[in-house]
Amino acid sequence: MNPLPPALTPAGRTRVLWRGRRMTYFAGCDYFRLSTHPDTIRAAIAASRTYGLSVGASRLTTGNSPLLVELERELARFLLAPAAVVTPTGSSANACLGESLHGEFTHVLLEERSHPSLKDAVSSLGAAVLPFAHRDPESVQRWVSTLPSSAHVLLATDGVFALDGAIAPLRQYRDVLPESAWMWVDDCHGAGTIGSTGAGTAQLEGVGNRQLLRTATLSKAFGSYGGVILGSSARIRSVLQRSRTFASSTPPPPPSAAAALAALRLLGSDPTLRTRLTDRIRQIRDALSRAGIQVTASPAPIFCIIPDTSTQRARLERRLVREGIHPPFIRYPGGPASGLFRFALSSEHSASQLRGLLRALEAE
Ligand SMILES: Cc1ncc(COP(=O)(O)O)c(C=O)c1O
Repeated sequence: MNPLPPALTPAGRTRVLWRGRRMTYFAGCDYFRLSTHPDTIRAAIAASRTYGLSVGASRLTTGNSPLLVELERELARFLLAPAAVVTPTGSSANACLGESLHGEFTHVLLEERSHPSLKDAVSSLGAAVLPFAHRDPESVQRWVSTLPSSAHVLLATDGVFALDGAIAPLRQYRDVLPESAWMWVDDCHGAGTIGSTGAGTAQLEGVGNRQLLRTATLSKAFGSYGGVILGSSARIRSVLQRSRTFASSTPPPPPSAAAALAALRLLGSDPTLRTRLTDRIRQIRDALSRAGIQVTASPAPIFCIIPDTSTQRARLERRLVREGIHPPFIRYPGGPASGLFRFALSSEHSASQLRGLLRALEAE
C-alpha cells in the first residue's frame, strides 16, 4: 500500500481541491499563507532570474550567496538572536546543531514528545540521553537531582508542539536547571507565530539568549523553505566548523531565501498579519471552550482532536466535509498510532470559514 495520502492541489490561499471539490484547508503550517503572498512570489521570481534556482554547492565551498548572508542577518534580527546560520531544512538544522555539539555535554535531558528530528539530533552528542515527561519541570528536577555536580547539562525540547500547539514551560525549566545548563529549543512552530513580536517561544516565556540555542524552519510561518540555527556567534561558528551535514549540503535555493526575506519584511512591517492570526486563535479557542470541547490550552495556531474510535473519526470527518472543510486527519511520528485531526489556523481564514469549522466541531 502506498503510505502517501492523495496529493493536494491548492485552490486559492485557504482552500484545496480534495476529491474534486474546493474545500477549506485547516491543515499544514503556512500560518500566514506567506507561501502565496504576492510579495514573496515576486521576490522568488526576481531571485530566480538573478541567482538561478540553486547555488549548486555547499556554502563552505562555492555555494555562499549574498541572499543567504542577508537572510541570516534578518532572521537573527526578527527572532532576537545574536547570530544565525541557514540550513537546508528545519530537520537538518537540528542535525547540524547536534553534530556541532558533540562532546560538549555529559547529559541531555530530552522532552519525551520532542520532534523526531530533535530526538535523532541529540543522539549524535555523545552524551547520556535522559527522557523527561512532557512539559513537566518536576520530571526535569528529578533528573537534575541525580546528576553529579560535574555534569554538563543540555535540555532539549520543542518550543511549540507540532500536533496540539502545547507550549514548553521554558521559564520553569530554567528555574530547576543548574546555572551552567543550556537549553535547546526547536521552535519550528513558534518562530513567527508567538511572542509579542513573533520571536517565538523564548520571547513568550521571557527567557533571554543566555545559554540558549534554537532551531527553526522557514517552511511554516515564513511560507518558504529552509532551516535556521540561532545562537551566539561562537556557537554558529562552531556549526560551520564542526557539522559534517552543513559542510556537505547545498543551502536553500535562492528563490526560497528571497521569499523568506520578503516574508520577514512583511511580518516585521505589517502587524495586522499577527493580530489577524491571534484574533482567530482567540475566537476559536474561546468558542471551543464555551462548547465544552477540550483542547490543549495554548496561544499557538494549532489544536487537535483525537477520536476515541473509528466511528467517532468517521462522524467528525462527515461533519467537516458537510461544512466544505478538508478533514485534516493525519498520522505523524510521536502522535497516537490511530491518528488525529490536527487543525491549523491561518491569519487568512475568513469569518465564515471559522464559523463552518465551529459548526462541525460543536456538533460532536
Ligand atoms: C517541531 C519540528 N521540528 C522540525 C521540523 C522539520 O522542519 P522541516 O520540515 O523544515 O525539515 C518540523 C516540521 O514538521 C517540526 O514540526
